[in-house]
Amino acid sequence: MKTALLSADVPGDVARAASLLRAGQAVAFPTETVYGLGADATRAEAVRGIFAAKERPADNPLIVHLADAGEVERVAAAVPAVARRLMAAFWPGPLTLVLPRGPAVPDEVTCGLDTVGVRVPDHPAARALLAAAGVPVAAPSANRSGRPSPTRAAHVVDDLGGRIAAVLDGGPTGVGLESTVLDVTLDPPMLLRPGGVTREQIEAVIGPIAESSGQAERPRSPGQKYAHYAPAVPLVLVSGGRDAVVAEINRSLAAERKIGNRPAVLCALEDAAAFPAAEAVVTYGRRAAPAEIAARLYDALRAFDRLPADTVFAAGLPETGLGAAIMNRLRRAAGDREVRV
Ligand code: TXA
Ligand code: MG
Repeated sequence: MKTALLSADVPGDVARAASLLRAGQAVAFPTETVYGLGADATRAEAVRGIFAAKERPADNPLIVHLADAGEVERVAAAVPAVARRLMAAFWPGPLTLVLPRGPAVPDEVTCGLDTVGVRVPDHPAARALLAAAGVPVAAPSANRSGRPSPTRAAHVVDDLGGRIAAVLDGGPTGVGLESTVLDVTLDPPMLLRPGGVTREQIEAVIGPIAESSGQAERPRSPGQKYAHYAPAVPLVLVSGGRDAVVAEINRSLAAERKIGNRPAVLCALEDAAAFPAAEAVVTYGRRAAPAEIAARLYDALRAFDRLPADTVFAAGLPETGLGAAIMNRLRRAAGDREVRV
């Protein structure tokens, strides 16, 4: 399949992407979080195309994207009062609400669950596309399954070029990490995936929420059980206080060198010069600017695909605010390779 490269700045291109969606094709498009791979959420066959292109496990449900909060009843059977308050506070924006599933949503979207994840993205190109398509659009992140999510159109082309009908290029995404997923069918609501809206922000609106460990045998958010966000080489997360983390990574670098390996480091900008034994150092942004780190993290992880390194040691960060989502993604990129110091 030839993948058409379209531009969000060209009105004719947005219309073309919308007509591809209406024709049942899979189209990648920018959102404020990451690029999504969209298809008509009301058509089972179109949604199956997403799973095939991404090679996504068949039990990992998709988020449905709407142009406007007023359309929520098209896909949800009911909207609890607590959801209404969150929609008013955070939509459009990086918050996905898990709601009772409506009859228009096929099993292919929810993987048979009786709930559906829904959000209104806060990105002009996404909203123009959704409005022009006129249908709810199911869209996971537009990466090959297991890879870091795409924050640029070029990342989508790297992973899915030749496998999807089109990519709508809207430049780099803003938030850089996926939406927060919150199940509001439970009381209290349960955080299933930390993301662009922080737990602290949600609790300021609706009070205390619960948090899923994500490690349960049958996780409530199936996506949380899969290895994800991984660069092409193994990544070891080193977490703890800043000085202890720097010392531990330097110890690991020396050990790797001794056995002839070429280790690399992923760390804060301020620490770029702290690892003289590293084959390469990639920085994810300034320690004091978590929003900057979120925006750059996936691009930084993808940089290791092109570097001559065989292991990456990633420096952890404090887990408050956006730091919770950043550390969730680094942990998933590491699999079980985490050293706590
Ligand atoms: O920011 C985002 O959320 C991006 C953009 C494109 O909107 N999308 C995204 O989709 O990250 P994806 O498929 O990569 O992640 C969706 C997550 C998965 O962890 C999935 O298990 C969970 O949401 N999810 C979707 N529907 C669910 C449901 N009904 N119940 C529980 N978890 C659900
Ligand atoms: Mg994803």
